[in-house]
This record gives sequence, structure tokens and C-alpha cells, in this order.
Amino acid sequence: MSAAGRSVLLIVGGGIAAYKSLELVRLLRKAGIGVTAVLTKAGAEFVTPMSLSVLTGETVRQDLFSQADEAEIDHISLSRAADLVVVAPATADLMAKAAHGHANDLASTVLLATDKRVLMAPAMNVRMWEHAAVRRNQAQLEADGVAFVGPDEGEMACGEYGPGRMAEPAAIFEAIQGLLDGASSTPAILPPPAARPMAGKRVLVTAGPTHEPIDPVRYIANRSSGRQGYAVAEALAALGAEVTLVSGPVDLPAPAGVNLQKVETASQMRQACESALPVDAAVMVAAVADWRPRETANTKLKKAAGFGATLELVENPDILRAVAAKGPKRPKLVVGFAAETDALLANARAKLASKGCDWIVANDVSQPGVMGGAENTVTLVTPRGAETWPQASKTEVARKLAERIAAAL
Ligand code: CTP
Repeated sequence: MSAAGRSVLLIVGGGIAAYKSLELVRLLRKAGIGVTAVLTKAGAEFVTPMSLSVLTGETVRQDLFSQADEAEIDHISLSRAADLVVVAPATADLMAKAAHGHANDLASTVLLATDKRVLMAPAMNVRMWEHAAVRRNQAQLEADGVAFVGPDEGEMACGEYGPGRMAEPAAIFEAIQGLLDGASSTPAILPPPAARPMAGKRVLVTAGPTHEPIDPVRYIANRSSGRQGYAVAEALAALGAEVTLVSGPVDLPAPAGVNLQKVETASQMRQACESALPVDAAVMVAAVADWRPRETANTKLKKAAGFGATLELVENPDILRAVAAKGPKRPKLVVGFAAETDALLANARAKLASKGCDWIVANDVSQPGVMGGAENTVTLVTPRGAETWPQASKTEVARKLAERIAAAL
């Protein structure tokens, strides 16, 4: 879908690069994208409200406490009326305010109140850009879901050389188009930045059963429906994570915003998991078959030939144990699931130790309807203790687990 007909709220901060924002407005308007501008006090030292107003065709907003402005549209509505908020130039001061949640002028208040994606085009002296405080603020803003374009490297207005020059208007325009296109395929309102704490984090999730073939028509399987794993993948993606979901054979649609890789056997699942590494967290929900037939017949086995008397099995690789093993690729957080029918806590604690994972989510599958059903009762077991959550839908359990994972990371 073209970006025409969409709208952008442009915050112009105080920097020499502010003049380039006028060109950006021109490019946006030419593409049929509406622009409303907020000019900071420092920004007004570099470009005039008059030039911005002529180019945007709208009143320029400058003051949080202006009665005239608030009567037209209040600052909260202003922060939400556009499809995207763009800060260009994003000064060190604007980045710091946004990273810390300050709201002491119109620009910072709009950034705190918005429920839309924010794109920042930083512009500042190279020493400032490289300062630990600005590095910290950018990392925080990225974790909050803010997108960045630039800065470019080159000679700066102050005579120094290095990264810090605001990206060219054409590059900012392209980034805006990309974000508006992305926005058009997702729900009308993107999740607010604060609701995307997993932005920039990669997560591996396994789900479903595995099928271990005996011959072309028969296999060993289990009752796993994949629902819990799919719900976990979707919940993590909703928090902004980049999720790879490795799934055994199930009859479920691909969750929104997730990279789905379908496999059949435990060996294929292990391979797909290895290729997905490194990740920040791994959540192994799959009910992997513990054994597979030693041989898989190429043709259908015949009763008359004695098939069925003995089926020789070999153990499958333990994917969770391999992912949780110490090494440079070990995710920061490895979560296993344990489906138990008895001695739930004791078995879960034993698995936590034997598999080398950080948490085990144990569920009692002796209760009717859990295996393959829509509800789940789970106990989260960590080295620090165990916590049983009230029975809830698998979606709700997934949401709660995803929030815990986000907090832990
Ligand atoms: N798991 C795995 N690979 C396997 C077996 C299990 O990754 N080959 C993972 C599951 O995805 C789950 C956890 O290990 O996160 C626990 O699985 P479970 O089958 O309960 O554990 P087992 O080691 O098979 O123990 P049990 O003796 O109870 O079957």
C-alpha cells in the first residue's frame, strides 16, 4: 500500500540540520503524506515557524501551554492523530528526554503520550554522539521500540569529522515510507512503544509434537496440539521480539509476525534450532518424541512379515539440553517445559538441573483436557523457587510468560 494519504507528526529540534527538515517536509507533501509540525524552542533558533507553516500548510505547534493551540487540538490528541512521529533533527537533549520519559515541553510530552511508532534522525557533534550517555539513551530508545535513521558520517558544521550529521532528507523519507508501509499491514494502531519491551531481542520457540516415521504410513507421535508453543511465540512477537518458531506437525495457522519453520522429526527440529542460534532467549515448548525407530522402512511394513512383534527404538537428541549447554551461543535465558502426570514439582526441579536450563514451566497433564486442550495450569520453577499460576487459557499463560521473559532480559 502506498504511503499517500497517511500523516506524520514532525518534531523539529534545535540543530543546524533543522534546515534539512524543510526539504523533508517538501518530499513528504509531494508524496501525498500530510505533515503536522512541532517546533521546539531551540528548533525555532534555526528555522522559522513561518517557513514550516507554509511548507506543511498547517499551523506549527510550539507551546505546551498555548490556549490557542490547545483549543484547536489538545496535545494528547495531537500525539495520536498522525500515523507516525518523526523527530528530525533529534538532538542529544530530545533523545535524553525521550529515553527518560520527561514531559516538560510540547515535544517531549508528545513523545511520551503517543501510541504510534517513533522515528528519530539524530544530529549532533561527533563527541556528543559517541558519549556514553547518548549511547545509553539510544540503546534505551531502541529497546522501547524507537526506530533510527542515521546519523551519517562526514564533516560537521563545527569542523569536526565523524558520525553525527543528520541523515539526508531522502534517506529519512525512505525510512518513513518503510515504517508507514509496515504500519499498513498491521492493525490500525501499532502497539505503543512502551508495550514493545522485546524490540531488538531474538527468541527461539519450539512447539508441537514430532513425528518419528516407522514406514511411509506409520509414525510415533504424541497428543501435543502445539497451541501452547504457538501462543508463546505470538505473545513474544507482540512484545516486539524477533521470533523463530520451529514447529512439529500441527494443524494451526502461523502466528502473526513470527518466522515459522515447520519440521517433522526430532532430528529436523534440532537442526532448525541450531540454525536459529544465536538468540537472546529460547523457549522449548515442543513435546519432542524421546525415541525414534532405529530403522525407517522405505515401503509399508506388512503384518504378514512379522511387523509389530518388536519395534527397535533409539533415543532422540535432547534439543533443550543442547541449547542450554554452556558455550558462546548459549542464550541468556533458556526455558524448558515439563509435561508431568505425577510428582510435578520434584520432576520439574530434577529437569531444571539435568537439562541445564534457567526455568522450567511444569504442567500437570494428568488433568483431562490439558494435553491438546485450550486451558493450562502451570507452575514456573526457577532455581529460586516455584510459583503456581491459576488455571487460564493457553493464550493468557503465554502472555504472562512472555512478560516474565521480557522482564528477565
Ligand atoms: N525436550 C527437547 N528434546 C527432547 C526431549 C525434550 O528439547 N528430545 C525438551 C522439551 O521441549 C521440554 C523439556 O525438554 O522443554 C522437557 O521435556 P520432557 O519430555 O518432559 O523431558 P524428558 O527429558 O523427555 O523427560 P521424561 O523422562 O519425563 O520424558
